[in-house]
Amino acid sequence: MKFKVTVVGGGNVGATTAQRVFEKGYADVVLVDIVEDMPQGKALDMLSSGPVIGTDAQIIGSNTYDETANSDVVVITAGIARRPGMSRDDLLMTNMKIVGSVTKEVAKRSPKAVLIVVSNPLDAMVQHAYKISGFPKERVVGMAGILDTARFRTFLAQELGVSVTNVSAFVLGGHGDTMVPLIGSTTVGGVPVSKLIESTRLEEIVQRTRDGGAEIVKLLKTGSAYYAPSAAAAQMVEAILLDRKEILPCAAYLEGEYGINGLYAGVPVKLGAGGVEDIIEVELTKSEAAALKASASSVQELVNVMAKA
Ligand code: NAI
Ligand code: 2OP
Repeated sequence: MKFKVTVVGGGNVGATTAQRVFEKGYADVVLVDIVEDMPQGKALDMLSSGPVIGTDAQIIGSNTYDETANSDVVVITAGIARRPGMSRDDLLMTNMKIVGSVTKEVAKRSPKAVLIVVSNPLDAMVQHAYKISGFPKERVVGMAGILDTARFRTFLAQELGVSVTNVSAFVLGGHGDTMVPLIGSTTVGGVPVSKLIESTRLEEIVQRTRDGGAEIVKLLKTGSAYYAPSAAAAQMVEAILLDRKEILPCAAYLEGEYGINGLYAGVPVKLGAGGVEDIIEVELTKSEAAALKASASSVQELVNVMAKA
């Protein structure tokens, strides 16, 4: 049986996510955007790649939502992206309205779907989608931790000249300047990273990870990263559709875990057919625990701003 995946926002992240999911072949895809004819054009182009890739999956584009009905997973990438000089938080009020309206449309047509929110500022947007959708917390999850962790793993692998697959790490917390790359539990081929890289250099790599999105915005000049973000979103889609029960860092609604209550933040979760099936509480050092709390406070500030809007 083929699954059905909707991707809302047919821009850089949305279109590449749709492409990655389509190419897997196990799901039909609906790509929605407000720009007239654009999602239809991109979808037709992707569909025409089917014979070359060898997939019989279907993909359509739309400017409305009826075609999205009964999706298994909905990925929300709609909104504006950062340009040079902008922080993710600068997007708050504009994207809050967009994510709110998109969530209403998809939730009523796909009441059993798992929602994966990508739009920034991520933690605030996923919190908003949770509130608007009325879905249980397990079925509303945010993408950021996989991306931040992938950047961290990439930079560590480059530094040590090893395969990225040998670097095991987690970046937790909010998707912003306060994100928390965990040094204590990062290992390379099973060896603690602190034994392989001296602490000042490690701190530079942590900082580069925190600035990873901004580094790309500065290079691209007209938008933000999308190849790694779409790879991360597609990994989440697959974990859910194929019920992989994969442990991945994602933004999940916390109710006491890590001492955080009533708020979305990036933590390791078990992602499967039910969405967030479990929240994994890894052991943190004292400073990591404090950094995670501080990161959650920054998310809370944005949530408070939204509540007053
Ligand atoms: P983009 O500008 O290329 O695409 C956004 C698309 O959303 C545009 O095609 C636009 O027409 C569409 N859109 C706007 N309002 C809409 C609405 N009401 N309904 C449907 N579509 C609508 O931006 P990009 O690069 O794809 O980024 C999308 C979002 O994802 C941004 O907010 C960006 O900051 C965020 N992002 C988050 C990441 C994360 O780790 N969570 C990583 C990368 C991007
Ligand atoms: C990133 O980290 C823009 O949030 C996006 O690349």
